Amino acid sequence: MIKVKIVGVGSYLPEKVINNFDLEKMVDTTDEWITERTGIKERRIVREDQATSDLCYEAAIKALAMAELKPGDIDIIIVATSTPDTVYPSTACWLQKKLKTKGQGAFDVSAGCSGFLYAFLLAGTLIESKVAKKILVCGGEVMSKVVNWEDRATCVLFGDGAGACVVVESNGESGILSVNLGADGSLAELLYQPAGGTRMPASEKTVKEKLHYVHMKGREVFKHAVIWMGRAAEKALKDANLSIDDIKLFIPHQANMRIIKTTNERTKIPEEKTFIILHKYGNMSAATIPVALDEAYRSGRIKDGDLILMSAFGTGFTWAGMVYKW
Ligand SMILES: CC(C)(COP(=O)(O)OP(=O)(O)OC[C@H]1O[C@@H](n2cnc3c(N)ncnc32)[C@H](O)[C@@H]1OP(=O)(O)O)[C@@H](O)C(=O)NCCC(=O)NCCS
Repeated sequence: MIKVKIVGVGSYLPEKVINNFDLEKMVDTTDEWITERTGIKERRIVREDQATSDLCYEAAIKALAMAELKPGDIDIIIVATSTPDTVYPSTACWLQKKLKTKGQGAFDVSAGCSGFLYAFLLAGTLIESKVAKKILVCGGEVMSKVVNWEDRATCVLFGDGAGACVVVESNGESGILSVNLGADGSLAELLYQPAGGTRMPASEKTVKEKLHYVHMKGREVFKHAVIWMGRAAEKALKDANLSIDDIKLFIPHQANMRIIKTTNERTKIPEEKTFIILHKYGNMSAATIPVALDEAYRSGRIKDGDLILMSAFGTGFTWAGMVYKW
């Protein structure tokens, strides 16, 4: 067991709601198509002046309040995101500035929708190895600024939001019981943002060709997602010597209801144990799992000692599975 304990959770969703009927007025789509194919009914969208660190800040303040800690008590700040405020510095550094604290380590983790589980594991190992005592781990995304609002195949899928956890050393009662991480970079081009990095720096041409937006081969992504979401969850259970009966709650990454249902069927995870926020928020990439953790905890679905199974899949491709004892 990696002896680590979540002592604070928080989340933030922007106020502005765009529902499927709003999208009907923007692109050639219908509420029926989006609901049937994805399970999404609405999503939250940031204001023009908000960036990822602003969302993480609101989530972090709530998590710190629950942990009864001040920003200055934190030793390391980690933000999992694929939609950073700037290419550099990291969103974690912008968040640190907003939290009005300095000195502690701050960096981002880029692992797409699996990012939060990668970052949480990293926080656990940094605490276990005595590098830090208290770590703030956020998952935050502003997907609405990287989707092409003229592309019906992608703009209906995503939403903005952030979740945060404050993580400290545990006395052995809480912790990560098992974890697996994976990636397949050979499939990177099935879901990526082509321009804006060093491969294809921003230019008049890249802007004109809309290469700073999400480019996705949805059907291909779907096929890989259903395989790896399930395998990662099953491996996490097996490595912890547990069965699904031992698990209180399954928190999957939430990109599409059909991916979650197929994962549940393949792994025999009952629907009633699966915590869903997808219909309200869409796919918030790295923010999905921490927002779900916060909502599950605050609604009483998670209590001390409960075993939580989490699994994720995203750009890279990356995937991850974890059993955490609350
Ligand atoms: C994107 C996704 C919902 C599309 O569902 P699908 O059943 O695979 O649909 P397809 O892409 O094959 O498209 C089917 C048809 O619907 C159309 N379509 C696509 N988006 C549409 C929309 N918003 N409204 C109406 N029609 C749409 C397509 O143009 C296509 O039309 P055609 O048959 O005339 O060419 C699905 O592939 C998916 O969820 N993929 C995974 C995405 C994902 O999870 N990404 C993030 C991973 S973390």
